[in-house]
Amino acid sequence: MNKYTAIIPVAGKGVRLLPFTQHCPKTMLDVAGQPIISHILRQVEQCGIRRVVFVVGYQKEVLIAYVRSHYPHLETVFVEQKEPKGLGHAVYMAKPVVTGPCFIILGDTIIDGDLLPLVKGEKNAVGVKTVADPRRFGVVELKGTEIVGFEEKPAQPKSNLALIGAYSFLECSQLFSCLEEVIASGKTVKNEIQLTDALSCLLQRGTSIVPVKMNDWFDCGTVEIMLQTNQILLRRHAHVPEKFRANNQISAPCYIDESAVVENCVLGPYVSVSEGAVLKNCRLEDAIVSRETHLEGKTASHLILDKYSL
Ligand code: G1P
Repeated sequence: MNKYTAIIPVAGKGVRLLPFTQHCPKTMLDVAGQPIISHILRQVEQCGIRRVVFVVGYQKEVLIAYVRSHYPHLETVFVEQKEPKGLGHAVYMAKPVVTGPCFIILGDTIIDGDLLPLVKGEKNAVGVKTVADPRRFGVVELKGTEIVGFEEKPAQPKSNLALIGAYSFLECSQLFSCLEEVIASGKTVKNEIQLTDALSCLLQRGTSIVPVKMNDWFDCGTVEIMLQTNQILLRRHAHVPEKFRANNQISAPCYIDESAVVENCVLGPYVSVSEGAVLKNCRLEDAIVSRETHLEGKTASHLILDKYSL
């Protein structure tokens, strides 16, 4: 167990994922058999973090009910961001309930690797990855191995090292003080108060922040990326309980939740079936079947299937 509090901003709607986000926040979308938030919490727990602050907003009840029922062993706190004013503002909402070291991980960021290098507790750190087109991310400028600048979604990036959405701070009061400064200055990028600008403020105040390279990062922003992520995670975390093998034809890798009902189906490769789903006489390949989705006689490939968009 460690002293970090995790802050997970999950207020966003995820407009690029409509209609799937019509009834839940983006972080509640399923991939590889579980909502994105579950993949994140698995990682957070593996780091020994037991206290999690969720910054909720859009469709908050769905997230709160899920977390309360599935993670009763964690100390969870929910704070609300009432208006979508940007990531910096969302994180600032956690100020009244967080002291000491904090680890921020964005609600649409799946990192399927070891997060411990980020939260070892010796330095302020940000997760980074080299990307082909950094213009849609926060970008890190390095001098040698040292971070000398941050910029949010620059038109002319100074490097191709992107912020992946995981940040750790030894003392969150410094971060909140910088967020306050950014908010008071009125500075926005793309009309939003940015966390990246608070990182620049920390640097200007002489606080050092080290980059930690992360390779297994999936930014689940579009249906196409969700399906790709589903494939990659299934290659690593496939699981089909024995009871489903008797009267179905299953080609690995697949994930079928224990609570699902699956009868007379041909599934796979790359099919994930979440909690409470019911599938009868279906042929599916490369598909995400979301929680509580009922399908009968469905043939589909390369698709997300959920109970609302059938
Ligand atoms: C946010 C951050 C950005 C970071 C990105 C990672 O942007 O502002 O710095 O690189 O997450 O996914 P958003 O994706 O919310 O536009």
